[in-house]
Amino acid sequence: MGTLIQNGTVVTADRMENADVLIEGSTIREVRAMIDPMGHTVVDASGLLVMPGGIDAHTHMDMPFGGTMSADDFLTGTRAAAIGGTTTIVDFAIQTKGSRMRDALDIWRAKAEGKACIDYGLHMIVTDLGSDNGRQGLNDMDDMVREGVASFKLFMAYPNVLMVDDGTIFKALQQTAKNGALICMHAENGSAIDVIVQQALADGKTAPVYHALTRPTKAEAEAVNRSIALAEIAGVPVYIVHLSSEDALNQVREARDRGVPAFAETCPQYLLLSIEDQMPGKSFEEAKYVFSPPLREKKNQPKLWDGLVHDHLQVVSTDHCPFCFADQKQAGKDDFTKIPNGAPGVENRLQLLYHFGVNAGKISLQRFVEITSTAPARIFGMYPKKGTIAVGSDADIVIWDPEAQHLISASTHHMRCDYSMFEGWQVKGNARLVYSRGELVVEGGRYIGGIGRGQYLRREARGGAWQ
Ligand code: URP
Ligand code: ZN
Ligand code: ZN
Repeated sequence: MGTLIQNGTVVTADRMENADVLIEGSTIREVRAMIDPMGHTVVDASGLLVMPGGIDAHTHMDMPFGGTMSADDFLTGTRAAAIGGTTTIVDFAIQTKGSRMRDALDIWRAKAEGKACIDYGLHMIVTDLGSDNGRQGLNDMDDMVREGVASFKLFMAYPNVLMVDDGTIFKALQQTAKNGALICMHAENGSAIDVIVQQALADGKTAPVYHALTRPTKAEAEAVNRSIALAEIAGVPVYIVHLSSEDALNQVREARDRGVPAFAETCPQYLLLSIEDQMPGKSFEEAKYVFSPPLREKKNQPKLWDGLVHDHLQVVSTDHCPFCFADQKQAGKDDFTKIPNGAPGVENRLQLLYHFGVNAGKISLQRFVEITSTAPARIFGMYPKKGTIAVGSDADIVIWDPEAQHLISASTHHMRCDYSMFEGWQVKGNARLVYSRGELVVEGGRYIGGIGRGQYLRREARGGAWQ
């Protein structure tokens, strides 16, 4: 006895068909027209889309930043994700300077244990390669790969906190030639930005907008260019996280045109929000939009959409990292450098991309599935267990109502954050039913699954074999 999803339109990255989907246990057993319903629980998906659950490859639950913690933990954050149709996240463990990666992995798995509502993987943020000229850290990377941590993030920004030097980046890249992992880069020239920031503060420029104005797009483009050059020398792929500007995109496109395996994600905030609209420099409310890289001028938005259409950008994730306005963001009332960097978004990614991408005619339905689910599954070593609707895959399925109207608001969202970046935005298209490993976890906007049922995902390090 299984669950039979009948009469829906099945959409994957490579096909769209009228077919039934039979779920047995935690996996998809059959996908074809006219499956015999006898003995199964039937779900009528007439007029609805049946798609692989979303994969958000960039979230920060329960993450320390600037003396505070991101407001969502693995319970509230993954529950909100599920309600929005996302069935997998890949979060970031942080190896702090002087500590071992295994300790960080243990800490982050303990944060998720008993709380995660959907399956989750972990990237490892590397801040220090440790003793023996980095040998200890490089061995730790191999150890992490054996634990299913198939990707690492390195920072070119946040000097004295998370930033690493080019030698560290290069060594880590070289190590992935041996262990098959993927390096993800936070690409902003932190040293140059720091000089500009100090000059701004000295001039009395302390308002939130100066966070954006002190981080030029060229500082992003330079770091993207450097990341790609270092990866090219090491002979490995590289993945740029939260790419925000045309200048940075041009670096990725130029490299890809030369056949270099450079990959990049952007986020809904860069596609839809701008300095002009959200940060006119008028009030401290603008702290709600302080994250890094920052919001850009509006002219960047069509370039990023174009990048998604032409596969210069492969993924849209959220960089979900919420800090409440009423208390946490206030830390920077008199100094924008003290505003915790990050904003909420994990719940709204599919709604926003569907409405402003698919409904607006900017991207096809199949491309929507690809950039929100299939590509991150492939790139981060989860495919075809995750990221598609196929026999043998995990039954992570979102049944999507393309006509559902939804008003985005902090007063109704499920993220533990007192504001939404998209407050009052009306979108058409929303998750109606969400299955995670065959279990119905969301029905009509309500989470009905168990707490802590989400499993840790051991991801495969494929050395770029997914290209
Ligand atoms: O401002 C941001 N993006 N906060 C989260 C940390 C990061 O760099 O991704
Ligand atoms: Zn980052
Ligand atoms: Zn991030």
